[in-house]
Amino acid sequence: MEQIELKDLQGLIVRGYAELQSAAFMVLKVTDAPVFKKWLQQHINEVTPGNVKPTDTAMNIAFTFAGLRALGLNKDSLDSFPLEFEDGMTTRQKQALLGDFGNSDPANWQWGQKGNDDTHVLLALYAANMPMLESLCATVKQQLVGHCAAEVKMLDTSNLVKRKEHFGFHDGIAQPTIDGLSRKDSPENTVAAGEFILGYKNEYGQYDYSPVVPGAADKNNVLPASDQVSGMKDLGKNGTYLVFRQLEQDVHSFWNYMDKKTKNEDGSCNPEQMVKLASKMVGRWPSGAPLALSPDKDSETMADMDKFGYRQGDGDGLKCPFASHVRRTNPRDSIDTDKKTSIKIANKHRIVRRGRSYGSPVEESMDPMDIIKSDNKEGTRGLHFICFNTNLTLQFEFIQNFWVNNPKFGGLYDERDPVMGNHSHPLDSRQSGTFSVENHPIRKRHTDVPEFVTVKGGAYFFLPGIRALTFLASI
Ligand code: HEM
Repeated sequence: MEQIELKDLQGLIVRGYAELQSAAFMVLKVTDAPVFKKWLQQHINEVTPGNVKPTDTAMNIAFTFAGLRALGLNKDSLDSFPLEFEDGMTTRQKQALLGDFGNSDPANWQWGQKGNDDTHVLLALYAANMPMLESLCATVKQQLVGHCAAEVKMLDTSNLVKRKEHFGFHDGIAQPTIDGLSRKDSPENTVAAGEFILGYKNEYGQYDYSPVVPGAADKNNVLPASDQVSGMKDLGKNGTYLVFRQLEQDVHSFWNYMDKKTKNEDGSCNPEQMVKLASKMVGRWPSGAPLALSPDKDSETMADMDKFGYRQGDGDGLKCPFASHVRRTNPRDSIDTDKKTSIKIANKHRIVRRGRSYGSPVEESMDPMDIIKSDNKEGTRGLHFICFNTNLTLQFEFIQNFWVNNPKFGGLYDERDPVMGNHSHPLDSRQSGTFSVENHPIRKRHTDVPEFVTVKGGAYFFLPGIRALTFLASI
């Protein structure tokens, strides 16, 4: 096993900074590259590396393709980045691939929108509490904005009870364990480091192509030599591609739908069935307990349980529907005819998620019954979905295209992910979704599923290793 250079990784790869409960994402446009790079040189020691577990604040920094160009990275080096990164999320092809139609059309995004080249830098800022975060944000803003950068968007986050997302489900449970990092896990859930960090072997036993710079350009000799192109230096080593999607959640619509579909014959609400239908859509109960293990009721004792598959005990989807969000986003052992092959395939399409919620909950209790009675129409809320991977095509985009938005996933024929799928696809005859729940003797099909999630912004970023960051500050 290759030794992972923890010191050279940005910390977000190693941990989600769960102890640092407050976070904000600052999206910037570089307006004066030399001054911005000077700032980076002076503050590089404040960028949190992977070998440190911060207890007060943390800062990580990433760049879009346009951002790297704005810094002045030479053309040959820019050309060495993969096309899927350069293209970003908003070309016509990407729109189709990611399913961003209707209200999620990139032309209408609040930032990173189609035709807008202003999204250059992502500063991910974390702190142990709100006053510390405010102070960190104010300091960074004062140093940058108006001097060498313009604020494109300031994305705040919120901390919901029990690590829930806004629909009320415990999130951030299932993650692949990166082989070579300290955490030990089952072989099924241990995935080659090269799937998530450039410069290491991936699940194919190969090195993903890493961006390079001409040797002569690395005047201070900070970058390692490239193993892939002779005479070049490796700009990608210990870096990764970070996906950022601002996903707005319509919590009223989510629970009103569950209510409408599960009412008792006399028209009264059936809270138990409401929660059950929503859990069938997610594939886990609100506590986090997987339906594959606890099909009939929620179980707090299984809240963080992640050791399960679908093949044995739920090969027919009677417990956790094939269409559910978690079964689509990671089918685990249920893809192919044998367990081992299935896990091998699924593990070539994994991502590490680092998202944070934003906006205040519709109701503090987050209780579905309180939500359906609530007349709180104030504010918006959602998930700043963040994940990283080394191959956007085979990982994030694959999941989104071939699993989340695939109408034929798992033997189904005309439905997309019920939680976050886009039902405005031009190829869909109806502009609403269907959700099938496997049952005996026949499956139950729920129709007219609205779009609960709308994309409001996003971009692909390159999260460089610390040496690469030092190099970028010096160009
Ligand atoms: C607002 C939008 C979303 C919501 C509310 C949401 C919610 C959830 C919840 C509640 C879970 C189960 C808890 C867990 O295993 O961590 C989960 C799991 C997961 N989600 Fe999402 N999610 C959203 C968007 C996405 C997107 C855009 C992707 C990627 C394309 C994604 C990929 C995953 C993956 C890979 C898992 C873990 C599956 C597993 O390994 O079992 N999610 N999500």
